[in-house]
Formats: sequence, structure tokens, C-alpha cells
Amino acid sequence: MEPALGSAFGVDRQLICDGTYFVVEREVQIIGCGGWSKRKTLFGGDAIKTGMDMELDPKRDSARIRACFVHPAWARCGIALSILERCEKAIRLAGFRDVELVATLTGELFYEASCYSQGVRFEIPLANGLSLPLVRMVKQL
Ligand SMILES: CC(C)(COP(=O)(O)OP(=O)(O)OC[C@H]1O[C@@H](n2cnc3c(N)ncnc32)[C@H](O)[C@@H]1OP(=O)(O)O)[C@@H](O)C(=O)NCCC(=O)NCCS
Repeated sequence: MEPALGSAFGVDRQLICDGTYFVVEREVQIIGCGGWSKRKTLFGGDAIKTGMDMELDPKRDSARIRACFVHPAWARCGIALSILERCEKAIRLAGFRDVELVATLTGELFYEASCYSQGVRFEIPLANGLSLPLVRMVKQL
């Protein structure tokens, strides 16, 4: 997790600017976050983005689910599911029919439970010679 933080796992400020990124708060603490995107980037924070993040065409392209994380103390309480359902509702309203995402191996089981199917598996290199296994997943709304 440590070498992935800040690069693969980082804030994509474009999602905040677009108003498509959500947090779940308990008193003053953020215990979960996640969002959706109408732009091309599939994963990663500001640190690994390059160039313009073009807007997608809802008639032709799949919307993205992006960066869903829940504090371990609040795991399996339905927090990520509530974020995902909120995102899927907004994606439908924006006119998209398909959704696509890149999941970590822990995320894979969560998305499978919400009817996302597995696609291509790949790895991205991280600092200090490690790599992060990821899987592309898709769903028709
Ligand atoms: C993946 C993650 C976001 C799930 O968050 P969560 O709030 O615990 O998930 P939910 O409670 O909403 O789970 C909903 C359903 O998904 C499935 N699910 C979630 N986590 C699972 C796991 N670790 N193993 C198997 N199924 C799982 C279950 O069916 C669960 O329903 P149930 O608890 O009634 O059985 C969280 O574990 C996390 O932050 N992981 C690390 C970061 C990460 O990998 N994020 C994904 C990036 S793409």
C-alpha cells in the first residue's frame, strides 16, 4: 500500500472540480470515499496524470467508477455500496449506459458482488520495484 499511495492511490482533483466525487463522514472523520467520472482517465491520482482529461460521449463511451476506499474500521458496513449506488444513479442520469473501472484485487470482490464482470488483468510498476496487480471491470446499467 505504501508505494501505491500518492501515485496509483491519490486524489484526482478533476473529479472534485466536476462534482462527481463523494465522501462519507462520521462526525468529523472521513470514513469512505469514491466517485464516478465522465472523463477518459480510468484510475490514478494527479501525480500520474498527463495532458488533458477529455470528456467522454455518453452515447458511445463507458462512464468510469473511480477511487473507492473505505476505512478498515468501517469495512463491510455497506459504505462502499452506498457510494457505488449513488454513482450509478448519477451515471444513468448523465445518459451513459455502460460503466468501466480498474479494480484492485480487494476491490474486485466488491465490484463482482454488484454485477461487474472481469476483463483484462495487468500490473503497474510502483516505486521500489514492486508492482500493483489490477483488473479492468465492466457493467451494463
Ligand atoms: C473494496 C472496498 C472499497 C469495499 O468497501 P466496503 O464498504 O467494505 O464494502 P461494502 O460493505 O459496501 O460491501 C458490499 C458487498 O461487497 C462484497 N464485498 C466487499 N468487500 C468484500 C471482500 N473483502 N470480500 C468479499 N466480498 C466483499 C460483499 O458482497 C459485500 O456485501 P456483504 O458485506 O453484505 O457480504 C474496501 O474493502 C476498500 O477500501 N478496500 C481497499 C481499497 C480498494 O481496494 N478499493 C477499490 C479500488 S478499485
